[in-house]
Amino acid sequence: MSHHDERTFVMVKPDGVQRGLIGEVVSRLEGRGLKLVGAKFMRIDQDLAEEHYGEHADKPFFEDLVGFITAAPVFAMVWEGADATRQVRRMMGATDPAEAQPGTIRGDLGLDLGQNVIHGSDHEDEGANEREIALFFDDEELVNWDQSTEGWVY
Ligand code: PPS
Repeated sequence: MSHHDERTFVMVKPDGVQRGLIGEVVSRLEGRGLKLVGAKFMRIDQDLAEEHYGEHADKPFFEDLVGFITAAPVFAMVWEGADATRQVRRMMGATDPAEAQPGTIRGDLGLDLGQNVIHGSDHEDEGANEREIALFFDDEELVNWDQSTEGWVY
């Protein structure tokens, strides 16, 4: 990992998994030049959901949010790259797909505030990326590797 690179946590939410959008999301992030260093297809349980979304515990939508995120599998990932947390958030677009710009993941694929396809760590919340990575992945589940086409293409 070079000094300007950082890692961020990204997840295809249950609506994205159910609609067959895992590949599309991965493809967009790969295409942007980010490097995948961890991935896990999993079901989030009640405890993990409440911890992950703990900052929203007082919000009126908290129960719906926890119910939604535990209702079906998610695809959790760690991506690495320069300014990765903020860059992924830019690619995601606004939380509400109705407000998200066309060209963003939510602007192109999202349905509503809950069913908005993707979660990414908040770049305005210092350390949120590292906290969320640690919540979902053990160190040994993350892969250090050099991305290069040398020796792999004609
Ligand atoms: S806030 O109040 O600004 O901090 O909340 P916001 O960032 O807009 O949203 C936080 C996450 O909650 C989800 N959300 C909802 N889910 C279900 N129903 C409703 N009404 C709702 N409103 C917000 C929203 O998609 C955010 O999810 P993540 O996974 O963090 O992107």
